[in-house]
Amino acid sequence: MQQLVDYPDAVEFQRVLTQLEQRPALVHPSEITKLRQQIAEAGQGRRFIVQAGECAERFIDCQSEIITEKMKILLQLCLLAAHGLKKPVVAIGRIAGQFGKPRSDEIEKRESQTLPSYRGDIINGFEFSPAARRPDPHRMLDAYQYACATLNWMRAVGESGLSALSQLKRWKLSGEHAQTRLFQDIAERIEESIAVLGAWGDYAPLSAFLSRNPIFTSHEALLLPYESALTRWSEDEGSYVNLGTHFLWLGERTRQLDGAHVEYLKGIANPLGIKVGPSTAPDELVALLRQLNPNNEWGRITLITRLGQSKAAELLPPLVRAVQKAKQNVTWACDPMHGNIVRMSDGVKTRYFDSIMAEVLVSQKAHHEMGSWLGGLHLEITAEDVTECVGGEVGVTESQLALNYQSYCDPRLNYAQSLELMIRFCDAFKGLAHCEAASGGVILPHRSVEPVVVGSG
Ligand code: PEP
Ligand code: CO
Repeated sequence: MQQLVDYPDAVEFQRVLTQLEQRPALVHPSEITKLRQQIAEAGQGRRFIVQAGECAERFIDCQSEIITEKMKILLQLCLLAAHGLKKPVVAIGRIAGQFGKPRSDEIEKRESQTLPSYRGDIINGFEFSPAARRPDPHRMLDAYQYACATLNWMRAVGESGLSALSQLKRWKLSGEHAQTRLFQDIAERIEESIAVLGAWGDYAPLSAFLSRNPIFTSHEALLLPYESALTRWSEDEGSYVNLGTHFLWLGERTRQLDGAHVEYLKGIANPLGIKVGPSTAPDELVALLRQLNPNNEWGRITLITRLGQSKAAELLPPLVRAVQKAKQNVTWACDPMHGNIVRMSDGVKTRYFDSIMAEVLVSQKAHHEMGSWLGGLHLEITAEDVTECVGGEVGVTESQLALNYQSYCDPRLNYAQSLELMIRFCDAFKGLAHCEAASGGVILPHRSVEPVVVGSG
């Protein structure tokens, strides 16, 4: 099995799984139904998904302030998207369970020592020592507790009305950030317009998003014993559902048609993401869609392309065409992060902001030209002023990477870079819409809008 974890103590491993199976679920099936409906709308050009968060969450970051900041930046990106695209949005965090990392290299070498790679806090420890790198099943129980505490705090903050539009001022991050002013300006403009108009008018998409809107949770379906232990039967769905999170995605390294991960995902009703990398053949993708979405339901599948900026223009159109031809109902999203990783000469991983931006814009344009709707962005971000990705208006340089590089895994866009990306994405959208309007066209996906069918997956 791909990405299999070999736990040295089989008895302890079983004991942990039995305990996990008895723990309460973290989310309710009705939330999953709601999310699937919203993703269906995003597939049909009526909504936009902002899915963002850490590459891998760390147990040490399970703290109120850190979680609140993560919620705020996600809400800010949503506000920018709703405002810029004039569509309701749906917020999905890579949060409350994104503790595992797929690895290309099973081992890590440092000087004379070779140890198993760090695979995320749910599996082993980051410290480079034999004891830390040994897979420990108790980490699954810890991951459950941390997911639970994170989600509990997210729900508490949500209940406090943070996401209500009247609370815009509370969305500001603590501390000074290069782009705080920019967000404040947009927020103030929206507040003023609402006060002047006394009505929603142009802001209907915002009000639709902000009326006590939840932030949904997601993580990669990687560690199958953990995922299975949190999978429960739902009478409402008439199916098994993973109640450890709302949304799961199938990673680029585990999407083999006859693989264990696909087999597991076939049996649950959650909305699923599929990472689509440059090696994905269009017919293979269609075969995977038929397996994972046999009833061709809208909202069940989000195809998250991560092709790399140099390949996206060439590889995306054939994939879109194949899906269109096969009449498969999917929601398209773009992950401009995972196809654009580069290693510096000292081994540090980074991503260039320009490459990330380029893949987003190329994908947006390709979808537009094919009468398809790019219904979401999938990003690795942090609310902090880290120096992990090079470039952007804030001008992080290669030599500044070491200044504040915190990620244990992939480099994330910092606060200013995240906002800049969304603003430029929305500006480009206005440009495309402007061209459409000038030629008398409409901006909707190629398909006529069909009713949203919600059933078991
Ligand atoms: C990820 O999303 O963190 C990831 C590893 O992505 P991919 O499977 O697309 O490489
Ligand atoms: Co990553």
